[in-house]
Amino acid sequence: MIEAVLKPGGDAATALYIVAFSLFILGVKRGTHPTTAKQGNLVAAFGMAVAVVTTLLLDGVGNWGLIALGLGIGTAVGVTASVRVKMTEMPQMVALYNGVGGGAVALIAWSEIRHGISLGETIPLDTLIPVLFAAVVGSVSFWGSNIAFAKLQDLIPTRPLAVPGQQAINVVLLIGILVACTDIAINNDDPSQAIFIAVLLAAGLLGNLVVLPIGGADMPVVISLLNAFTGLSAAAAGFALDNVALIVAGTLVGSSGTILTMEMATAMNRSVANVLFAGFGGAPAGGAGGSTEERPHVSIGAQDAAIKLAYADSVVIVPGYGLAVAQAQHAIKEVGDELEKRGVTVNYAIHPVAGRMPGHMNVLLAEADVPYEQLKEMEEINPEMPRTDVAVVVGANDVTNPAAKNDPNSPIAGMPIIEVDQAQQVIVIKRSLSPGFAGIDNDLFYESNTSMLFDDAKKAAADIAAEIQNL
Ligand code: TAP
Repeated sequence: MIEAVLKPGGDAATALYIVAFSLFILGVKRGTHPTTAKQGNLVAAFGMAVAVVTTLLLDGVGNWGLIALGLGIGTAVGVTASVRVKMTEMPQMVALYNGVGGGAVALIAWSEIRHGISLGETIPLDTLIPVLFAAVVGSVSFWGSNIAFAKLQDLIPTRPLAVPGQQAINVVLLIGILVACTDIAINNDDPSQAIFIAVLLAAGLLGNLVVLPIGGADMPVVISLLNAFTGLSAAAAGFALDNVALIVAGTLVGSSGTILTMEMATAMNRSVANVLFAGFGGAPAGGAGGSTEERPHVSIGAQDAAIKLAYADSVVIVPGYGLAVAQAQHAIKEVGDELEKRGVTVNYAIHPVAGRMPGHMNVLLAEADVPYEQLKEMEEINPEMPRTDVAVVVGANDVTNPAAKNDPNSPIAGMPIIEVDQAQQVIVIKRSLSPGFAGIDNDLFYESNTSMLFDDAKKAAADIAAEIQNL
């Protein structure tokens, strides 16, 4: 039997929590660069282990059988998922984990209310208000994240799903939640558990209704926002439980989630409000659909592409969502290696919202061992474009669309792009002329210096690498 050794709020517990959240902060800092990101993950995970062990050693913690069962199930699910889930399924996995975090916070809030009621004493407002906040926001996050997961996993249609009278229902739910929470706070000497459960249910319904009308491809932004919500609700639970590690960890998640949400929206040249309320992003992601109007374009095969590339001095590879779908990162690295053997300078241009999640392209290219120094951010590579002999666009579409610069009426007007149209020659590898996420045609495909190579990105890249070898 393990004996509890730490006093809640005592010096030893506080010191260990400070160690834990210092490691969280260090982990986040290290996570900001590809070379240190893996280490950052391990540092933060170690910090979490310190926080969990400290909490388990607190005086008053018991029921070891249940705790062991929870740890066992959580570890089994986490390890299996991290081994099995494909990179392209990562956004829905994050949605699921995030939802579970919000749900856990809502349940903690419920157990705090039950505990308060069972003691039969007045629950102080400085405990009750954070508990109510944690319950509402945690529940919104749990149910909203479930819808996000279901959309990304194709369990429900990914297109925006309109619910009749949805805005009015949302307002009624919000007012109802506020009135019910006020009632619980006023009657803090004997709060009603039934009203509290009604608050949890109403917040859950609100979470569902807010996310249902959002297009599946906008989900990464929504998930990041819900992630920020989960962080804030955890911080509130930390105030209620007087747990400093939870307050700091929750605040870190809340603030970094908010920054990420805003950065993603900015990189798409949209406001967060537009993502949440405009119903954009329902276009079939990277698949058929939208305008496929035939306009004159030049189509080439792998051999022609290999010749253009092999006799260039400088090549910039621009990966996008299609590279992730095709899992073409290793094949494209092979193309880069073959070109470098021939003395060609090769760089990779990374657009901040290429793919479907933040850092998507960095992660895939790192997996294929592309050297970090070859990964160039958009601001760094764009001035180089006019001096680039060949830009190879691999499964990217919107992030290269010149309409963002040239057409003020385009849905993506103002979105910064990788300016491949400025390169001497452009090769676009994709399966058809179908639009990408934004559902709009790409003028790049019809430019005089653009050649289209219609094929699956992985197969095309493997063919090009083989052709370069044969030259
Ligand atoms: P997209 O514009 O979505 O275009 C991807 C292209 O990949 C499609 O046009 C598709 O054309 C092609 N493709 C699909 N499967 C392929 C395969 N197996 N082989 C070759 N090509 C394939 O991608 P992007 O340029 O990366 O832009 C990302 C978009 O997602 C932006 O509009 C961005 O705003 C949005 N978005 C990004 C994020 C983050 S955080 N990254 C979050 C939300 C939204 P074919 O069907 O013709 O092959």
